[in-house]
Amino acid sequence: TKWQATILTLFPDMFPGPLGHSLAGKSLNEGIWGLKTLDIRDFARDKHRTVDDTPLGGGLGMVLKPDVVDAALQAVAATAGPRIYLSPRGKMLDQAMVRDLAAQPGAVFLCGRYEGVDQRVIDAHAMQEVSIGDYILSGGEVAALTVIDAVVRLLPGVMGKAEGHHDESFETGLLEHSHFTQPRVWNGIEAPEILGSGHHRRIAEWRLAEAKKETQTRRPDLWKRYLELQSKSSKE
Ligand code: ADE
Repeated sequence: TKWQATILTLFPDMFPGPLGHSLAGKSLNEGIWGLKTLDIRDFARDKHRTVDDTPLGGGLGMVLKPDVVDAALQAVAATAGPRIYLSPRGKMLDQAMVRDLAAQPGAVFLCGRYEGVDQRVIDAHAMQEVSIGDYILSGGEVAALTVIDAVVRLLPGVMGKAEGHHDESFETGLLEHSHFTQPRVWNGIEAPEILGSGHHRRIAEWRLAEAKKETQTRRPDLWKRYLELQSKSSKE
């Protein structure tokens, strides 16, 4: 019943890492979600517990062996949810993908190191390849932590009403408005006067205008999509 993350990694000590803190850590302790790590090295068969080999065709680095990774995947065959291989070649993670994952019973995450994993085992298990962005991490672990963090905060009971999601970027299609707290004048700089007015409707209008302005200047790509969605929904 709880969302279950299963991690296949050569570095099980990297988990839960940052997910043991704050909202994710609290909800993990409460049993709202579960985390299980398997050490890929435990599925090596030789006495040196070899997990990798040189690339076929030559070249630098090492590749995780298909038989070892396959044995690790077989060990979690009964675990529900998609099989995800973290890779910079994967489909780029976005909030829509995060929502889809949160609606699943959980997911199995395969974390590669070195140059990667033999492609045949990725294909044989029809794994979904997921990237967290156009840059190269030293392994899939930090990417898996990122995906899980984004999923867990959407699970029912993880975020209280106070932290709610409704105004968030990617829920509205706009970046969030700027935030301010006391004092209203800090270092001689005033926070917007309207925010101290107690006039909730006008504050909401100011925040929406601010969100639009900031989205337009910071993220023209998101602004374009927002306008397209607005014109579509107004025609319906
Ligand atoms: N492994 C290495 N780099 C990565 C990235 N950008 N996303 C997902 N997995 C990765």
